[in-house]
Amino acid sequence: MRKQALIIDCDPGVDDAVGLQLALAAPELEVLAITTVGGNVPVAKTSRNARIVRQVAGREDVPVFAGAARPLVRAPAGAGEFHGAEGLGDIRPFEPDAPLDGDDAVEAIIDIVRSRPAGSVAAAVMGPMTNLALAIRKAPDIAGRLGPVAVMGGARAEGGNITASAEFNVWADPDAAAEVFHSGAKVVAFGLDATHQVRATEERIARIEAIGGAAAAMAASTLRFSQRIEREIVGWDAAPLHDPCTVAWLMRPELFRLRPCRIEVETGSDLTRGHTAVEFRVDAAEAPHLWAVAADGEGVFDLIAETLKAAA
Ligand code: RIB
Ligand code: CA
Repeated sequence: MRKQALIIDCDPGVDDAVGLQLALAAPELEVLAITTVGGNVPVAKTSRNARIVRQVAGREDVPVFAGAARPLVRAPAGAGEFHGAEGLGDIRPFEPDAPLDGDDAVEAIIDIVRSRPAGSVAAAVMGPMTNLALAIRKAPDIAGRLGPVAVMGGARAEGGNITASAEFNVWADPDAAAEVFHSGAKVVAFGLDATHQVRATEERIARIEAIGGAAAAMAASTLRFSQRIEREIVGWDAAPLHDPCTVAWLMRPELFRLRPCRIEVETGSDLTRGHTAVEFRVDAAEAPHLWAVAADGEGVFDLIAETLKAAA
C-alpha cells in the first residue's frame, strides 16, 4: 500500500485528539511528525497532550515538536471552555513516558519537507496556522514543496463559532492564515461549512465506545466531553467533529465535496477579524485553493470506527 507521508500540526484539544488517534492508527498514512501550537490551551499543554495521545496510540515512534506559544501578532487566546482546562476534556493528564523530541516545530517542518521528494509530504493543520506561516517565512520554498495542506479552519455559509463571522483557528491567528493562503501552498480548507455536517451523534459515539482498546476509549471520552459541553453551551444535541475531517479527507477523499476557490482573511477589524471570504468565481484550473462544501458525516464516523477497531 502506498502511504501518504504527513505532518500533523495541532493544538490538542479534544477533536485534535480524535484526529491524531485516527491518523496514528491509519495504515495508509505515514505520520512523520506531530507539531504543536498554542491554541485551545497553551503550547506546554498541547505538547504534553500530543505526547499523551501518541502514548495511548502506542506510537511513540512519531516525534513531537513544540511550536509557537503565541500568534504572529495577536494576543494568545484559548478555548478551554470547549476542551477543558487541560485540553483533553475529562481525561486526567499525566506526564507521558517519552519526552518531547524538540522545541522547534518550525525547523522540524522545514527539515522534513526538504528531506522528502517535492509534493510527497502532506500537512494536516488542526489549529492556528502560526507554525506553518513561520516555516514558510523562514523557508519560502516549502510552500511549493508541500503536498496538499489540509486545514481545519474558516467559515463561509455557516458563519463563525468564535465570533459572528469567524472560526476559532483562523480567528486566533488571522495574520498567519492570511500568509499561508497567499504563500503558494495549495490549501484544502475544511471550514465549518463541512465540519458542521460531521456530527458526533449518540449512536456514533456509542459505536466508538464499543470498540475497546485505549485509543478508542480516548476518542470516545473526548467525544462524550464535547457532547456534554455543546449541549450545555451551544444547545446542540450532537457536537460537530472538526479536526478529524482533515485526516479523513487524506484517507478517503470521496467523503467530501470540494470547490476551487480563492480565500482572503480579514485582519483589519476586531468585529470581522478572521473572517474567511471564500470566492468560488474563479478559473478552476487557476484556483489556488479548495473549499469543502459537503461532508459525509456517517462515512467519516464509519472510517474512524473501522480504523480504530482494526488497530485495537
Ligand atoms: O473551530 C474549531 C477548531 O477550533 C478546532 O481545531 C478545535 O480544536 C479548535 O481549535
Ligand atoms: Ca484544533
